[in-house]
Amino acid sequence: MRPGPRLAAPMDHPPRVRIYEVGPRDGLQNESKPIPTDAKLAYIALLRTAGLREIEATSFVSPRAIPQLADADELLPAVLNVAAADAVRFPVLVPNMRGMERAEAAGATALAVFTAASDEFTKRNIGMTIDESLAEFKPVLERATALGWWKRAYVSTAFGCPFSGRVEVDKVVDVALRLMELGADEICLGDTIGVGVPSQVHALTTATTEAGLPLERLAYHFHDTRGTALANVVAGLEDGVSCFDSSTGGTGGCPYAPGAAGNLATEDLVYFLDASGWDHGVSLDGVLAAARFIADRLGKPLSTKVGQAGGWDPATGSATGRSAPPPS
Ligand code: COA
Ligand code: ZN
Repeated sequence: MRPGPRLAAPMDHPPRVRIYEVGPRDGLQNESKPIPTDAKLAYIALLRTAGLREIEATSFVSPRAIPQLADADELLPAVLNVAAADAVRFPVLVPNMRGMERAEAAGATALAVFTAASDEFTKRNIGMTIDESLAEFKPVLERATALGWWKRAYVSTAFGCPFSGRVEVDKVVDVALRLMELGADEICLGDTIGVGVPSQVHALTTATTEAGLPLERLAYHFHDTRGTALANVVAGLEDGVSCFDSSTGGTGGCPYAPGAAGNLATEDLVYFLDASGWDHGVSLDGVLAAARFIADRLGKPLSTKVGQAGGWDPATGSATGRSAPPPS
């Protein structure tokens, strides 16, 4: 049996869905055109204005591995300085103690460690096997706990690996539980290359929660490579999961995961949640403004579904949010 409330519930009692924005990190890490720090700050400010309250800001990884995010040490203090009064969480990716020291110096209060459900992928992404990565994260998570930080842990390739193919549910459960035991507050299962379908979401939710992971500590991260991301969100909502990752403008992908197209677009997610009656606190027009801004800076057209079509006002039958000029 699947845990949690059914999808039919939200019209009566809209539960709150957490939209975890990964645009400034996952969205930019795969882009070769360098985005200046000031433009990233302006982008993050637009995301905040749109009502997003969890924004993954950057990564404290090797600048050689991810050149686009090499400005993390300057970016994060500036983000936190501006946003001090807002109740916004700005997690940063941390791969090791070196990254932890940098994140601490920059003023972080939330982090995400990241491993995978397949050794073939972690070796290419972070140069470690899964076991080695968990050993590396242990002191990182201990230190973050001592500092009172919020801690997320990603399990990438939870739906399939670009190097080893099919990934068994038991492997995902094993890695998720070990991360929980290391002190992660939230476990995020990632469909890194966008191959997953709803039946896999149900199987993963059931298996992880039956193994002892509380439902409220489970999140999903879907890439929309094959157009299944929103269907997978529906499956997660049916299971009672309340946190989903997305990227404004549908940017994203891991340079170490060949074939990974963009993340589920925040504007597509927000339109779907609004029209379905879920409460989430994010403005579609605000997200579209941020999406246009970053698409413009990347020199790419905004090609997401809702980015092109806009929202829809049932009172007039007209599209909304299409003509707003890109913010300067
Ligand atoms: N921040 C900055 N530099 C770091 C670092 C950190 N957190 N950790 C290691 N480095 C530096 C080392 O000093 C070394 O620098 P050098 O070449 O100038 O001497 C270099 O990075 C390599 O470090 P090493 O310890 O030999 O590890 P590695 O080459 O196996 O790299 C990682 C391991 C984890 C640092 C690297 O693979 C990485 O940053 N991966 C991130 C990948 C990513 O973000 N993917 C997208 C998210 S899914
Ligand atoms: Zn991703």
